Amino acid sequence: MENGLNGKPDHPFPAGFAWGVASSSHQVEGCNFNNQWSAWERRGRIKSGDRAGLACDWWRNAERDFDLAQSLGINALRLSLEWSKIEPEEGRWDKAAVNRYREMLKGLHERGIRPFVTLHHFTNPLWFEAKRAFLSPRSIPLFQRFTRHAVETLGDLCSDWTTFNEPNVYASLGYFLGEFPPGRAGRFVQTALVTRNLVLAHAAAYRTIHALQPNANVGWAQHFVVFKPRRPRWAVDRWISGFIDRRFNQNFADSIETGRAPFPLNEFGDRLQEVQGTCDYVGINYYSRLRAGLALLSPRTLFFQLTVPPHKPQGDSGIEIPYGEAYPKGLRRAAKRFAAFNKPIYILENGVPDRDDRIRPWLLKAEVKQMRKALAAGVDLRGYFHWSLTDNFEWNEGWHLRFGLIELDPATQARKLRPSAQLYADIIRESRNGLGGA
Ligand code: FCB
Repeated sequence: MENGLNGKPDHPFPAGFAWGVASSSHQVEGCNFNNQWSAWERRGRIKSGDRAGLACDWWRNAERDFDLAQSLGINALRLSLEWSKIEPEEGRWDKAAVNRYREMLKGLHERGIRPFVTLHHFTNPLWFEAKRAFLSPRSIPLFQRFTRHAVETLGDLCSDWTTFNEPNVYASLGYFLGEFPPGRAGRFVQTALVTRNLVLAHAAAYRTIHALQPNANVGWAQHFVVFKPRRPRWAVDRWISGFIDRRFNQNFADSIETGRAPFPLNEFGDRLQEVQGTCDYVGINYYSRLRAGLALLSPRTLFFQLTVPPHKPQGDSGIEIPYGEAYPKGLRRAAKRFAAFNKPIYILENGVPDRDDRIRPWLLKAEVKQMRKALAAGVDLRGYFHWSLTDNFEWNEGWHLRFGLIELDPATQARKLRPSAQLYADIIRESRNGLGGA
């Protein structure tokens, strides 16, 4: 049995390892009509034409999925707070919304599941967006006040916090690639300013949480992409690939590690000393590998293009663009790179869009093997969160891309386990039974 589902037991998973699933408010809750993503949907910007609607119906009944998570042996679950529900108008707090989150967090504890709460997962209340969101420095005290309210009202039920989900994706897809609201393309300076304000808001939130909860575990979720030059022999492709890697994968992290402002503001002597060291762990969201190369016809993206060779393993394609190559080794690479922080590491998201579960089982097993190798190499890896438990509303792809271990029919809310759900349950059980596990 030594080569169980977890692959060659290079290294056991530590006791208390968090075997989780990840989600976000807008994608699973339903009934979100007061944030900028619902406005984006009303403007017809969801490529599939879908509506989030009830999503996975968590606002009324998250407990149905908590039961499923428990039945798979999952012991941690990442969810986010919907700021637009908690503070629907500037300075007005909705008690009923907070109580619903209290109920959900209690429901998780009752099932032996440790909640990881994300404060910001892409969505802004409409009033906040109208104030230019994180493009404005006023965003920092507003986000800090929201954080304080969240910790004051929920802190007895949670101590694992993620300030921002993927600040690099929020800034670059919203202000550089124009794929996410507010849909701006080619705004290099705005992208940098948004990143700067996000770094400052993160640090302010970090301090606020710790002032209220000295033992809190606080970090952020870094989206990591493996970039490879499209034509490795072309110096220009190699340069582009290296440049994007440093900017996209490292900008935010570098600021937190060194207190330097994000590029290119650092080049003008801008320093953010107060943000240095403001994390207790590094969270990594890893999905794929992309090729980067010169594209003379793309002036709006500074003449580069991201592609995926069609023959490489990959899940389902997005409506207009491929999702990325499924490249399990990238997980270990990411973990090793951020191990330089000397802080614990959590994989806060990992998964693949795969409606028919064609490659998910292979990928899941391969990623587990990569985690064992990372552990064997001394990486302080504390948890893994699969994205996601059930299919959910995938931003501008709507219901088109399916990431669930469990298939969901949004019209009937019927759920059906994909083979990967059972596989994940087996992986978790084996890791606990000492088959190379703890
Ligand atoms: C990540 C997002 C998450 C989900 C997955 C598929 O980038 O954080 O909300 O959309 O991708």
